[in-house]
Amino acid sequence: MHMKASDHDHGPKTVPVTFILEDPESLTGDASKGTVECLGAVGENILEIALENGINIEHACGGVCACSTCHVYLEVGEDACNEPEDDELDRVEEAPGIQINSRLSCQTVIEDESPITIKVPAWNRNAVKEVPH
Ligand code: FES
Repeated sequence: MHMKASDHDHGPKTVPVTFILEDPESLTGDASKGTVECLGAVGENILEIALENGINIEHACGGVCACSTCHVYLEVGEDACNEPEDDELDRVEEAPGIQINSRLSCQTVIEDESPITIKVPAWNRNAVKEVPH
């Protein structure tokens, strides 16, 4: 049996996760996928769950909290996820369109089996190309 690396050390996938995609065509290649319902596991982060389910959230640094391209809005389930660390808060401030519920998807880890809803902003896909170096 083959397992993806991201399946290691995670429990069974029992946490309902809903992704609301403002620009489904660029994130999934399918304009009709405005909402994607899937399951995640306690211990997984939101970026992992998105990628496993065909949602190509930008992740320029590979998920190590060194960019802000994986920025999303945690619409429902704040209490079911970890608190953001200072590093994440510093990074997320660099993202365009920051809101009170802004998170970096690679740093947002499920800690509890409550439903979670994530909104992926439309500009996510191209954000990396707009950040000057
Ligand atoms: S992928 Fe770079 S901070 Fe999340």
